[in-house]
Amino acid sequence: MTSGISGAIIAWLLLATIAHAIEVNVTGEWRPDLGWEVTCGWQTLSNDTLQSVRLFNNGQQFMIYRPERHGLSRSEVFQTPQTVMHVDCAVTIDRGQEGRCVMLLEPYQPSVNDFTYSCEVSGERPMFRIGKKDYLVKILVPPSNASLTSKTQDGSSPTRVMLNCSSTGLPAPNLQWTVDQDKLQADFTGRVWNATSKLWNVWSYLSYTRNTDAKVLCTPEVNSHNEIIRGTPAEFNSASRYFGTTHIMFMTLFLYLLR
Ligand SMILES: *[C@@H]1O[C@H](CO)[C@@H](O)[C@H](O)[C@H]1NC(C)=O
Ligand SMILES: *[C@@H]1O[C@H](CO)[C@@H](O)[C@H](O)[C@H]1NC(C)=O
Ligand SMILES: *[C@@H]1O[C@H](CO)[C@@H](O)[C@H](O)[C@H]1NC(C)=O
Ligand SMILES: *[C@@H]1O[C@H](CO)[C@@H](O)[C@H](O)[C@H]1NC(C)=O
Ligand SMILES: *[C@@H]1O[C@H](CO)[C@@H](O)[C@H](O)[C@H]1NC(C)=O
Repeated sequence: MTSGISGAIIAWLLLATIAHAIEVNVTGEWRPDLGWEVTCGWQTLSNDTLQSVRLFNNGQQFMIYRPERHGLSRSEVFQTPQTVMHVDCAVTIDRGQEGRCVMLLEPYQPSVNDFTYSCEVSGERPMFRIGKKDYLVKILVPPSNASLTSKTQDGSSPTRVMLNCSSTGLPAPNLQWTVDQDKLQADFTGRVWNATSKLWNVWSYLSYTRNTDAKVLCTPEVNSHNEIIRGTPAEFNSASRYFGTTHIMFMTLFLYLLR
């Protein structure tokens, strides 16, 4: 019994010391309109043969690729209520000394949480070399630059301006209005999930009394891991007058939206 355990420990130590013999890389990026693309690439020693690639979501194995069983490639789709995950694994050399698994994660709503994606690559007997990498998939697409439209409310005195600020991101950004550093409450905010971009479109209205010297800013921000991430703010220059035209249609629509 004791020798069995120490045998297992020695085998484990042996595995641990040769763990670097297979090189594994995991990289990821947000691909606009597609989702997160996470790629696991590997390279074994030239005299080794690929036995298997295992993929894990938060430590739980969800896919295995074994060239001996599946051939030169394997593609799978995993669907949950929150996401679709497409995985394509392929070897680029005969005995699998090199290859990669590309995972495309397409977010739905409500969105998934961050998770650890792991890729474990094993060589064949007698060495059973192993290489493994963890990668944190952060569900964050920083807020896009804010954009601002404005319409003058005709005939009002002092002149009131209706501002509409918008941005996109995941999670949905908050739009913070400030006038010379002072925070202002928006009059109305809205958001809609865009299934094409797989991001939230958010907007915020502010009815503002024109003041020539004031600097009005709308800043998109999102809280991620207790850190506030800000997009580029949009500024409304109170002094400019080029947009001061009548827009009864706009006001009608605005009142309709506020109803
Ligand atoms: C892993 O990344 C390093 C550094 O970017 C690169 O030199 C190496 O070729 C990569 N290996 C594989 C198997 O992709
Ligand atoms: C393969 O190559 C490695 C390093 O070059 C060597 O240590 C090992 O003995 C070779 N043979 C096998 C079967 O892995
Ligand atoms: C966003 O704003 C930055 C400046 O803060 C600018 O360099 C960049 O080109 C803008 N991006 C887009 C898509 O307009
Ligand atoms: C305000 O901007 C948002 C986002 O661009 C847009 O969907 C909405 O229709 C705009 N509202 C008005 C009244 O123009
Ligand atoms: C949704 O996203 C697509 C692609 O990014 C974009 O072309 C489209 O204008 C967006 N739709 C809305 C309503 O903003």
